[in-house]
Amino acid sequence: MTASQSVLPMTSATEDKSSYAQYFSVVHHYHQLRFQWIVKNFLKGVTGQRVAEVGAGDGGVIQFLREKNDVFGLDISETGVAYLKQLGINSALVDASSEPLPFDDAQIDIFMMFEVFEHLKNPQHAVEELQRVVKQGGKILLSIPNPRTGHQYLYPSLFRFRAFKEYLANNGFTVNRVVPYGFVPPLWPLVKPLVFTKKRIELEDKPMPAVGKETGKPHFPLTTRLNYASSAPFWTAIKPLRYAWLCVYELTNTDPQGSRKLFDRVASRESHENAAKQ
Ligand SMILES: C[S@@+](CC[C@H](N)C(=O)[O-])C[C@H]1O[C@@H](n2cnc3c(N)ncnc32)[C@H](O)[C@@H]1O
Repeated sequence: MTASQSVLPMTSATEDKSSYAQYFSVVHHYHQLRFQWIVKNFLKGVTGQRVAEVGAGDGGVIQFLREKNDVFGLDISETGVAYLKQLGINSALVDASSEPLPFDDAQIDIFMMFEVFEHLKNPQHAVEELQRVVKQGGKILLSIPNPRTGHQYLYPSLFRFRAFKEYLANNGFTVNRVVPYGFVPPLWPLVKPLVFTKKRIELEDKPMPAVGKETGKPHFPLTTRLNYASSAPFWTAIKPLRYAWLCVYELTNTDPQGSRKLFDRVASRESHENAAKQ
């Protein structure tokens, strides 16, 4: 066997884009309640900022910030970018796992990426890129789902809340807050089939009216409203983090070279010697 035969070919950004091309053939507006919760808890009164959001193909949080800020939406999904354009939001098609983000260095004040990290084939590339485009001291908001939700992961152990926080800190971010949203009931694998009935899935697959349009009031399914309610400060204080549906990480871009330094530390002989001593 030759060396080239033994190496698995990497898929290209184009192939990965085609996997996500139709991701937003239906835009589920029931995520809007969570987006509004994010604005209320992390972005109140934000004005005059340059804001970028990756994975914003359903309108994202930027749709609520667009009036008073300079916002930009990115997504790997063609239907997502088409929807952003339809909303009149500046946007571009990008694979954040392998391509550069379309900004110069230190251009962005606030960078957001909700429920995207777990989709990335190469999270480290995305981290390097976001550190590059965000100003030093700039704000980053990320969220990842709890493994208890049964979400499929490319890298399962990275998405345990404590491990993810450590990963971010190792990359040189300052982790200011980790705020839980929503609730995964105990014994969720047993409860899930009772909640996600065929009827409910069919109902959810019907597009809901866009927020702010005159097409009617958006309808939020009961589970969405319960998840929203379970994120009120009272419940957040008494429910353990392990039962959160997802967590939002609020970070500061303290060291734009942080991920590069981490890579060099891992590559250094010293790090192997330290590991051997332990
Ligand atoms: C689970 S959805 C989350 C959507 C929304 N941000 C939310 O919180 O509900 C994942 C999003 O990430 C996008 N995405 C997945 N992989 C991506 C990649 N490599 N580069 C950019 N966007 C990606 C998907 O198209 C989709 O918009």
